[in-house]
Amino acid sequence: MDKPAKDTLFQIDSVEEDFVFNEHVVEVFDDMLDRSVPFYREVIDSTARLLDCFLNRGDTVYDLGCATGTTLLEFSRLLEDRGLKFVGVDNSAPMLDKARLKTELYSKTESLSFLEEDITKIDHPEAGAFIVNYTLQFIRPLQRGDFVRQLYDNLRPGGVLLLSEKVISHDRRLNREYIAIYHRFKKKKGYSELEIAKKREALENVLIPFSIDENKTLLKNCGFKSVDTYFQWFNFASFIAVKPS
Ligand SMILES: C[S@@+](CC[C@H](N)C(=O)[O-])C[C@H]1O[C@@H](n2cnc3c(N)ncnc32)[C@H](O)[C@@H]1O
Repeated sequence: MDKPAKDTLFQIDSVEEDFVFNEHVVEVFDDMLDRSVPFYREVIDSTARLLDCFLNRGDTVYDLGCATGTTLLEFSRLLEDRGLKFVGVDNSAPMLDKARLKTELYSKTESLSFLEEDITKIDHPEAGAFIVNYTLQFIRPLQRGDFVRQLYDNLRPGGVLLLSEKVISHDRRLNREYIAIYHRFKKKKGYSELEIAKKREALENVLIPFSIDENKTLLKNCGFKSVDTYFQWFNFASFIAVKPS
């Protein structure tokens, strides 16, 4: 496939508005993720390893907020022999158009499909796993409890929720340093100071991160028993939450 279009959304002449997942974002989205989410590919790989441990043949894996389908395409390659079904859910039609196109290009239409739905109204009982990567942070904090409880209810006994998020530290000094380290990471990936500042402003009030402890408490309050982090890089973390068998 062609190299993804370069993310220049926050260069000098871009309009200042809140961040939305529109067609301009979709065009550059794969490049944006590779340059904005630390260890993006490694997190997908680690998540696939956990799925390999917890899933049964015939299980369905739902990726909620699947965007252009990168994660599921990787899973369908890494877990090819496991007899799993993969379903991506997103409410952005342009994201799903791109996801379907990529799925056809990689000849994965048999195991991978996509649904245009609001993930907060999820109704897919007996799911083997829900993946929610960098998406819970966009759901209003007051709605998160109900959303995660719905996921718990929709999982089969022994099913897993795998969650990756940007996180904050309640220690102000650590929080500041983690954000500074993250901005240096983005500079190294080719974003200018201005682009970093503008994106940060556009995401303010749209992306609301919890701390690691707040995410763990949320998961436990919804009934999950084994809750742990399986990856952390400064202000990014991934969590596993298992529904008791
Ligand atoms: C940061 S992206 C997710 C990235 C993707 N999970 C990955 O790891 O490549 C957030 C996605 O969630 C979708 N989204 C946000 N709120 C949603 C909702 N309520 N229902 C469905 N999709 C939603 C957006 O359209 C966008 O594609």
